[in-house]
Amino acid sequence: MQGREVWPIRYPRGDVRASDFRVVEVPVRPPRPGEVLVRNTWTSVDAALRLRLSKTAPPGYFPAFPLEEPMDGIMTVGEIVESRADGFAPGDTVWHASGWRDYAVVEAEKEALGGVGTLTKLDVGVAPAQAYLGVLGGTGLTAYAGLFHAAGLRDGDVVWVSAAAGAVGSLAAQMAKIRGHRVIGSAGSDEKVRHLREELGLDAAFNYKCGALPDLLREAAPDGIDVYFDNVGGDHLEAALGALRTSGRVAICGMISQYAAQEPPHGPGNLMLAVTKGLTIRGFRGSGHTHLLPEMSRQVGAWVREGRLSCRETIVEGLTQAPVALAGLLRGDNTGKTLVRIDGVPHGESAAG
Ligand SMILES: NC(=O)c1ccc[n+]([C@@H]2O[C@H](COP(=O)([O-])OP(=O)(O)OC[C@H]3O[C@@H](n4cnc5c(N)ncnc54)[C@H](OP(=O)(O)O)[C@@H]3O)[C@@H](O)[C@H]2O)c1
Repeated sequence: MQGREVWPIRYPRGDVRASDFRVVEVPVRPPRPGEVLVRNTWTSVDAALRLRLSKTAPPGYFPAFPLEEPMDGIMTVGEIVESRADGFAPGDTVWHASGWRDYAVVEAEKEALGGVGTLTKLDVGVAPAQAYLGVLGGTGLTAYAGLFHAAGLRDGDVVWVSAAAGAVGSLAAQMAKIRGHRVIGSAGSDEKVRHLREELGLDAAFNYKCGALPDLLREAAPDGIDVYFDNVGGDHLEAALGALRTSGRVAICGMISQYAAQEPPHGPGNLMLAVTKGLTIRGFRGSGHTHLLPEMSRQVGAWVREGRLSCRETIVEGLTQAPVALAGLLRGDNTGKTLVRIDGVPHGESAAG
């Protein structure tokens, strides 16, 4: 049986282009003892993939994607078609980390993405399979861990979330709202700002492209902020340092504004405010908080069932379009979680062939 995989063929300089990838037909081998064969149905598209599309990834992060090879370490869900691993059977829906391909042979016990991507059976009675790539998966975990652990949210905190219409940001902003905080969101279009105010119910929202960030932030939070959930870095982080009140906290989730930088970006010019205001600035990774997965699934699962979390998805059709979906996300075309629906069974009769 043949399957398809998306391989990077050159590292993008600046913006990601579809031509930086190619789709390759490969033989799919049957699983060996301890392995399962999965037909992937949905695969994740994440901002941070950009960090790995480079000769070297930032120290401490997941490794760079080698050129001319399948991209290992991308969250995916699918259905098992053949199992030689205890505890897994054909028909089970699972998540694993062998994404951007339509079939994957996965070793059941092998840790992936710091544990968050290790082969796991999913309860699709609770939510559709693709929700486990978003709100009930690593995306939800990142928002939850960042807000409640890295930022150490306290009663009464005023919270600013940047890239608030995106996958992680929209969840973090809504979770803070559910916990009773005043929440400000920022995004890159008026339509997204309307979404933040009207659909996500944030207290204030602004389009960061429509003025100077410190002014926009002052207008949205005249008395300052206590927590900044940073998805953007750069000028956003600098504006936050200016607006944070004494003992404020920054949870650095990511710095998307710098991922395509050709030169090392300058740090915020006002970092001294961390000293004068006694700020705590903490970077974190969802994959460093896998111990929170059961708690997050329980709590966030309940919010989803109660209809308290809006989980918009930007769905791109077809495995071959995964690079286009990534380029779109990095440009800001998406609202909510970006997903690729992997189309159909490719070539060959039975999955086990
Ligand atoms: N720490 C972790 O474990 C972890 C895990 C997952 C993701 N992350 C980080 O979380 C952030 C969001 O990732 P995601 O996968 O959820 O993506 P996402 O927010 O769904 O999409 C990225 C969004 O970033 C915005 N953006 C792009 N360039 C920008 C710029 N120069 N300035 C301001 N905004 C910009 C775009 O929205 P606009 O239209 O609003 O510009 C775009 O929609 C990223 O920094 C990512 O690296 C961290």
